[in-house]
Amino acid sequence: MAGNPAGKVAVVTGAASGIGRACAVRLARDGARVAVLDLNGGEAEGVAEEIRAAGGTALSATVDVADRANIDQALADVRERLGPVAILVNSAGKEGFKRFLDITIESWTSILTVNLTGTFHCCQAVVPDMVEAGWGRIVNISSSSAHSGQPYMTHYVASKAGVMGFTKALALELGPAGITVNTIPPGFIDTPMTRRNEERGFFGSTVDELAARTPVRRAGLPEDIAAACSFLVSEEAGYITGQVIGVNGGRNT
Ligand SMILES: NC(=O)c1ccc[n+]([C@@H]2O[C@H](COP(=O)([O-])OP(=O)(O)OC[C@H]3O[C@@H](n4cnc5c(N)ncnc54)[C@H](O)[C@@H]3O)[C@@H](O)[C@H]2O)c1
Repeated sequence: MAGNPAGKVAVVTGAASGIGRACAVRLARDGARVAVLDLNGGEAEGVAEEIRAAGGTALSATVDVADRANIDQALADVRERLGPVAILVNSAGKEGFKRFLDITIESWTSILTVNLTGTFHCCQAVVPDMVEAGWGRIVNISSSSAHSGQPYMTHYVASKAGVMGFTKALALELGPAGITVNTIPPGFIDTPMTRRNEERGFFGSTVDELAARTPVRRAGLPEDIAAACSFLVSEEAGYITGQVIGVNGGRNT
């Protein structure tokens, strides 16, 4: 299901690692000109180099999605070097794992700010380009934990449930402008975030054990999310908006 964003400019946040990285690489392979944004600028540049080495077009920038001025500055550079933004994938995310009574207001605010407010900032910063063009595609990466709940992650789960509601509301508002907005809630994808959580014992089980209990009998790969993302940003997905497209191996049906 090759997307057809050939020549269009795609911005991917959290693109230095895991799901965001896979989306950036996939969209570049589909023909998009990609801006690889991440807090970790060194790793982001590594991904951009990888895309260029494969014949694609990419640039990187060190961006904190919690910082609107930082985002606006980076996007001004993206517009100058690549052109107006047509596609946005919000994958930057921060996890947390704490008993409810031990969650500090600082930690609550930090997770809500990166995961939910960061998504708001990035959408608001690129939507004018899409409105001007009469075409746009936004994919927000939420989490299957917002469907299932997850103990010790009330802050994280609340932020991701917020992303789902935000996506639905924004889709209704932007539909008439030719812009679709959807969310993919990944479930159990083998990324550095997942391996960090395994090491910390957050799952009470290993990734391999969880994979064996997953209906499709494997952990998801970042490329599984990238494939869904590639479709959602394509021309032919234009009638799909405001949707929650689960990619979870059947764990949450
Ligand atoms: N891996 C899973 O199973 C899973 C499940 C559900 C949801 N998710 C979500 O998918 C997204 C990607 O997660 P991943 O597993 O690829 O994790 P990851 O840790 O591999 O990648 C996350 C990236 O986001 C970047 N980032 C963090 N805070 C940032 C900020 N303030 N500004 C800019 N970049 C920032 C990190 O530097 C990192 O490169 C996250 O939103 C996560 O919550 C992942």
